[in-house]
Amino acid sequence: MKNLGQTANIVGFSNNKLPIVSLESLQSFLTDDMHAVDQVIRKSLYSDVVLIRQVSEYIINSGGKRLRPALVLLAAGCFDYQGRAHHELAAVVEFIHTATLLHDDVVDESELRRGRETANALFGNATSVLVGDFLYSRAFQMMVAVDNMEVMRILSDATNTIAEGEVLQLLNCHDPDIDEENYLRVIRYKTAKLFEAAGRLGAVISGGTEAEKDALARYGMHLGTAFQLVDDVLDYSGDFLKTGKNIGDDLAEGKPTLPLLYAMKHGTAEQAASIRKAIKHGGLTEFQSVLAAIKDTRALQYTREAAKREAETANAAISCLPDSNSKSALLQLAAFAVDRSF
Ligand code: IPE
Ligand code: IPE
Ligand code: MG
Ligand code: MG
Repeated sequence: MKNLGQTANIVGFSNNKLPIVSLESLQSFLTDDMHAVDQVIRKSLYSDVVLIRQVSEYIINSGGKRLRPALVLLAAGCFDYQGRAHHELAAVVEFIHTATLLHDDVVDESELRRGRETANALFGNATSVLVGDFLYSRAFQMMVAVDNMEVMRILSDATNTIAEGEVLQLLNCHDPDIDEENYLRVIRYKTAKLFEAAGRLGAVISGGTEAEKDALARYGMHLGTAFQLVDDVLDYSGDFLKTGKNIGDDLAEGKPTLPLLYAMKHGTAEQAASIRKAIKHGGLTEFQSVLAAIKDTRALQYTREAAKREAETANAAISCLPDSNSKSALLQLAAFAVDRSF
């Protein structure tokens, strides 16, 4: 690992405490390890079935921020881990993430991801679902090869919880009476759980104490929650050129995310009625009036504030770890998750 202090490109301050380092400088801190992870990924995508290689390489090579593998590496870095299992597990976590994206884009009927057509748009829903299954099961083959029962428990529990989160979300779609607690449960399951697993894994393979494992797991869970809150902000305000995704996907699916819940509660009766209608029926006919309600009520600012509180809780969770470059990168990663525009 490089010295973060030498590579840091400080671009701003999100609050009085945390300098925001660009994602590029975090990535450059991890260049050598990430290169090793990419080699594991490339090697592990192999299949005799050409269509599997085509689709999995299409999505994996289209980029992505690689935040979850970064979390595994940084968590292990907090203990100055010297083995190789963190590269394997970082790749496993990215495969699980990629499988969820393949499935999620089918369910959400999304057309753009990482600045390109989604796999479902290009290859069809059936292919996307089945290649997603291939990636999940390949991830499990790789995880078994690490031969550590605790690792297997963490990853199988996380994968199971993600599936629960996606099904819970399906149940919430088109229901305008969902409350914040219910929404929060969905994002903890569908998104935060994998970040939690990534943090815990780094501590487990490094021989961390139970308290250290719990600290990094809690960091990951709160980071992941902040990350999804901001994803839900960007679904109403993002720039396609930066996010690589279309705005409006959540409204089109009738997803009751926090920006909508807040605007419904704090907007005029007319605005609340328009949002209720949009959630119930999906589609984009109400999009402009929903955007106006979101703007009037400052719902996106409220959601980002909620993300900031989660990120602060994440950082507080690792205060027990000794100072290191990796720990400082984790603190900055939480700030990035809040301020990000992609
Ligand atoms: C997208 O995750 C799915 C969510 C949980 C919001 P990322 O924004 O990490 O996706 P990539 O890997 O960088 O494309
Ligand atoms: C994240 O939710 C879903 C997963 C955890 C796979 P979203 O549906 O908001 O993710 P994007 O916006 O499509 O990336
Ligand atoms: Mg989606
Ligand atoms: Mg989204």
